[in-house]
Amino acid sequence: MQLFNLKDHTESASFTKAVLQGIGRGQGLFFPDRIEPFAEKEIEDLLALPLVPRSQRILRHLIGGDELSELEDIVADAFNFPAPLVKAEEDCWCLQLFRGPTLAFKDFGARFLARVLGAVRNGRHLTILTATSGDTGAAVAGAFHGQQGIDVVVMYPKGKITPLQEKLIATLGGNVHAIEVDSNFDQCQDLVKRAFDDQDFRERIGLNSANSINIARLLAQVTYYFEAVAQLPVERRGSVLFSVPCGNFGDITAGLIAKALGLKCRFAIACNVNDTVPRYLKSGKWDPHPTVQTLSNAMDISRPNNWPRTEALVRMEGWSLDDFACGSLTDDETEQSMREVYAKTGYITEPHAAIALAVLKASKKPGEAGIFLGTAHPAKFRGDVERILGTRLPLPMALQQVIGRECEKHEMKPDYEALKDYVLKTLRL
Ligand SMILES: Cc1ncc(COP(=O)(O)O)c(C=O)c1O
Repeated sequence: MQLFNLKDHTESASFTKAVLQGIGRGQGLFFPDRIEPFAEKEIEDLLALPLVPRSQRILRHLIGGDELSELEDIVADAFNFPAPLVKAEEDCWCLQLFRGPTLAFKDFGARFLARVLGAVRNGRHLTILTATSGDTGAAVAGAFHGQQGIDVVVMYPKGKITPLQEKLIATLGGNVHAIEVDSNFDQCQDLVKRAFDDQDFRERIGLNSANSINIARLLAQVTYYFEAVAQLPVERRGSVLFSVPCGNFGDITAGLIAKALGLKCRFAIACNVNDTVPRYLKSGKWDPHPTVQTLSNAMDISRPNNWPRTEALVRMEGWSLDDFACGSLTDDETEQSMREVYAKTGYITEPHAAIALAVLKASKKPGEAGIFLGTAHPAKFRGDVERILGTRLPLPMALQQVIGRECEKHEMKPDYEALKDYVLKTLRL
């Protein structure tokens, strides 16, 4: 697979190199300049397969035959949980992507990335350094836990992530190191940026990141769009609308790659009031407003960092931005969407999925099968969900297991030298 830097086309990289490097020169994103579609018959054959063998074939097709001989084993090991399609309302299904170990769609991308990095590091020790406001840190920590030759350092702001999120990060031990920073998320992020700018330190610890910019995370997500269609009755597969709750636009870009591969579907972009893209699609003007805090906090992003990939793909395939359905919801409308489906069928959504469901219902044509993405387990937003729906949510097994465990964490002020010192001593580098 040949990938190009979207900001500087003279820089290209193989899949392996792009995964190790993360981002290109001038902060440019790596992206292929061609996606070879499957023939119609091949799509039919793929849809008849179970998740793992189908995903192996899709990813092998994308990455190519001459790279990453371990790919098939990696996929089998990473995708060891289901992604069921569950009916929420008439003609509206939820693709539940929250059945993995940390109950978030990120388990697909993070587990795949961890194993790919393990395979391509070539004997070199790697250190994944990440700042988190909660969910990403949990998925990354869980995905890399126990991975040979790779240490993970997760920094989070003291008192600003939920106790449950902290447990998912700080009770793993082994190669996962939790740092509670007496500060806010932005300062945690600044410490990560400083480490990446510090060439000496970077080399010494084999610094790498696991953020959603990494092409491996994106490619892993392509596979579950096929899994969704494969679970529809055969007669409904010809006309499908996916509604995707969008923050950084990684998930929807993965869906568009599935479409470029030949999956028959169209897309709805679902946002909260951080609606830079829906406004751009209407006015043609890129005009990010200051980010507003909402109930669907993982979508509180006004400068989505994967949008250049989305646009590049639309251009490359000769599609039009007008082909997207789109919508944005206020918090009140989000709550209303949650209540409406719960009252109608008893289906429980959390704020991100509820936004996608509302946009789906507003955009769906008669006869179209509507699928919205369930990106996080409702129990991860338990407080809000219980308040809005007036019901108690049982805690899923994955969360029950960590709740009684002790956290092991290093506490620190937002001080770069202290971070360096801790990393070098703890990892004995
Ligand atoms: C629960 C949830 N839903 C939706 C999104 C948005 O996904 P993306 O950033 O790929 O657009 C995120 C991103 O972190 C998320 O955590």
